[in-house]
Amino acid sequence: MTDADLTYLKDYSAPEFIIPRTELSFELRDEATIVRARLFVEPAAVRKADSKLRLDGRSLRLISVGIGGLPLGAEFYSVDSSGLTLHEPPEDAFELDIVTEIDPAGNTELMGLYRSSGIWCTQCEPEGFRRITYFLDRPDVLSVYTVRIEADAKAAPVLLANGNLTESDELAGGRHFAVWHDPFPKPSYLFALVAGDLGHIEDNFTTASGREVALGIYCEHGKEEKCLYAMDALKRSMAWDEKRFGREYDLNLFNIVAVSDFNFGAMENKGLNIFNDRYVLADPATATDADYANIEGVIAHEYFHNWTGDRVTCRDWFQLCLKEGLTVYRDQEFSSDERSRAVKRIEDVRKLRAAQFPEDSGPLAHAARPDSFREIENFYTTTVYEKGAEIVRMLSTLYGTDGFLKGFTRYIEDNDGKAATIEDWVGAFERALDTDLSHFLEWYKQAGTPEITVSDAYEPETQTYRLTLSQKTRPTPSQPDKQPMMVPVKFGLVGPNGHDLEFTSAEGARVEGDLIVFDQPEAEIVFSGISARPVPSLFRGFSAPVSMNSNMSDEDRLFLARHDSDPFNRWQALQDIALDLMVAGARAGGVLTDTAKADGLAAALSDTLADASLDNAFKAQALALPGQSTVTQALAHDVDPDAVYAAHKALLAHIGAALTEELETAYGVLADTALPYSTEAVATRARSLRNQCLALWAAGGSDAAAARIGTHYHQADNMTDRMVALEIATSLGLPETDGLLDDFKANFGGNPLLYDKWLALVASRPAAETLDRVKAIYADPAFPRHNPNRLRSLVFGLATGNPTQFARPDGAGFRFVISVCADTDPVNAQVSARILTAFRSFRLYEAGRQARATEALESLKGKDLSRNLSDILSRVLSQ
Ligand code: TRP
Ligand code: ZN
Repeated sequence: MTDADLTYLKDYSAPEFIIPRTELSFELRDEATIVRARLFVEPAAVRKADSKLRLDGRSLRLISVGIGGLPLGAEFYSVDSSGLTLHEPPEDAFELDIVTEIDPAGNTELMGLYRSSGIWCTQCEPEGFRRITYFLDRPDVLSVYTVRIEADAKAAPVLLANGNLTESDELAGGRHFAVWHDPFPKPSYLFALVAGDLGHIEDNFTTASGREVALGIYCEHGKEEKCLYAMDALKRSMAWDEKRFGREYDLNLFNIVAVSDFNFGAMENKGLNIFNDRYVLADPATATDADYANIEGVIAHEYFHNWTGDRVTCRDWFQLCLKEGLTVYRDQEFSSDERSRAVKRIEDVRKLRAAQFPEDSGPLAHAARPDSFREIENFYTTTVYEKGAEIVRMLSTLYGTDGFLKGFTRYIEDNDGKAATIEDWVGAFERALDTDLSHFLEWYKQAGTPEITVSDAYEPETQTYRLTLSQKTRPTPSQPDKQPMMVPVKFGLVGPNGHDLEFTSAEGARVEGDLIVFDQPEAEIVFSGISARPVPSLFRGFSAPVSMNSNMSDEDRLFLARHDSDPFNRWQALQDIALDLMVAGARAGGVLTDTAKADGLAAALSDTLADASLDNAFKAQALALPGQSTVTQALAHDVDPDAVYAAHKALLAHIGAALTEELETAYGVLADTALPYSTEAVATRARSLRNQCLALWAAGGSDAAAARIGTHYHQADNMTDRMVALEIATSLGLPETDGLLDDFKANFGGNPLLYDKWLALVASRPAAETLDRVKAIYADPAFPRHNPNRLRSLVFGLATGNPTQFARPDGAGFRFVISVCADTDPVNAQVSARILTAFRSFRLYEAGRQARATEALESLKGKDLSRNLSDILSRVLSQ
């Protein structure tokens, strides 16, 4: 591909035409759908004389074009595969009538208007609206929509669109219609329509200023009860956004629809959110504690978009993290307030390190706000979302909760009803807080994870303590030279009694209370008046998305693990020691190299388990040691996944054996709080620790623990325990694994969301037979390979959940995943491209596996690939 395929941020220009009002009428039929659009077009101030009007359109059959009610002769316009051009649009405002025919039943890409289990539904972000009608399908063209939907009354008793219902009635021939009007101007990507035979639940919410909002959640008939938790989460989200951010809901209606075929998690269409059903449906019999947490998070996320995304939208798609990073930050904060802040932070950082750090250090690295792209659909990435959220969080760290609220409020007030940019966002903070954020803005522009190196020295004679910091960011594609970033370092200097030491002054960098603002390549900070040698606790709460190397001794780390006042860094200290051991073990071919160090870690874990001041969910996090992907990242080159696997296993085995008695006892004692099952927080936390104890105990290899796995599974009165038993059996390769997996499939496999869990488990087994088993499932004609949830569970279960079998030395794992990409690409390019991202870290492998992966990737070259897939392919191979 050439640079001509790229779209550049610097080439942005404002639209020459606007469409303040849009009327759409849908005639839904099984065979095909007719869409009648009336666009009220006006020239924008920047319109140049004799500009043509170019509308986007894709996979549309044009039936007619008219202006001001009169048909337009064919010589006045032209149509091609990407749009429609009016050669001589009128000088002034005019009404453009366009009739198109579309085929929702044949739409396998799940973008635009498509059918999912017989339901008509839409997905327009980012560029799906152009598959519905010709339009200025760009986020800076805001329009007020009126939508009429007509369908068979039996096939589609439910007719929904954005905004408020203004009219509905029966029609001849068993048909009916509904008219919806959304008073808020919005870009086309927020348009939504749903029609079908759906069940629903209802509730209501009264906003702080007294607006009555009717809430509805729609789903397949028979699943209504499974929507109750999502409804509860929605109401809590609405209350929280009022309380924490002063944001009220603004329509009298808010609807959510759960569909089973969906490319992503969910979508924030104004007043009509559409969800992948895995983020709505839950009940105590089938959902795990993690499922509940995910549902709560995604419901909140989409709801919060009403202000950060819908009321204030994005000027262009380069600004995607403006709405996504901010909204992820908001949903993280919501979950922290609803649950445990420390545990939520640990979970989010685990996710960032497991997904975003690898992206940022490989060939797909890009800035949170990229400056060019080939295919925007490939930029819904963990960098845009999760690193975007970290950047927003740093503003809160720099200015405090109150300062952040001031900046946020200013941003909303200044940009309400507008399409904004990252500069508008950062500028609002500068204006509200009278500060300069020009250096901070680099976080949005520069890709790569800054690496911070730390060393220190204490001088008892002078009571001074020197902390030396340096930062470096490695080159990333098209960004060879990196600038130093503005890094907020939350810190404490922990004294011998475990309390933070006071200091009289700090020179050498901006130090404000417990915050160092480190914005140079290097800094030496001299703290005076330090009465004893401190142990530095840096990046408390993970105050910046960086990686840190320090020369800290194991002794000091163990001290922090026991005494730091910051729970995140207590957890971090344990992780660091474990990671060191795993990395050294993997370098040595897959063994445990330092048993004394491992015993020190085991003792600290034992103390953590016994510490009455810590909550059970935190303890569970402490016992959950780093995963294989973290070890792979830390090794950075010539990685042998089998050695990583063995080293990981060896450390867990050593610690599990060292702590057998404690773990068995804790497992037994916690039963009192964890059982019988309840979704209350205290039970959930006890369950998480009990299950983590079981995992480590079983990893220790005791027969008693292994015997416990089957009992744990069969006696489970909830899905969390059952799944944990399966995961432990699967990952340790216990003899009962097959029996348990078969039992699970037989009893729960009929529920698609539980079938997904089974698929992922089968694919994640670290055993030589796994690949054949996965291939057989995939090849079975009954396997619904076009359903994104099913396909992802199976293929990502292998590609990200099973490092040794994906990266088999013979390359068969790579070749299989590539063949799935090739099969999927003509059906759903967004999904095929996402699957290919599993190769983003293949350069970390040793030479043989790298060569196998390269061959597999290159086998796709020269095929007729979608733009999505060829974009990822060329980038993955580019380094
Ligand atoms: N904006 C959605 C979100 O809340 C993302 C999304 C939903 C999406 N469906 C999509 C992105 C389809 C691309 C394609 O995060
Ligand atoms: Zn979002």
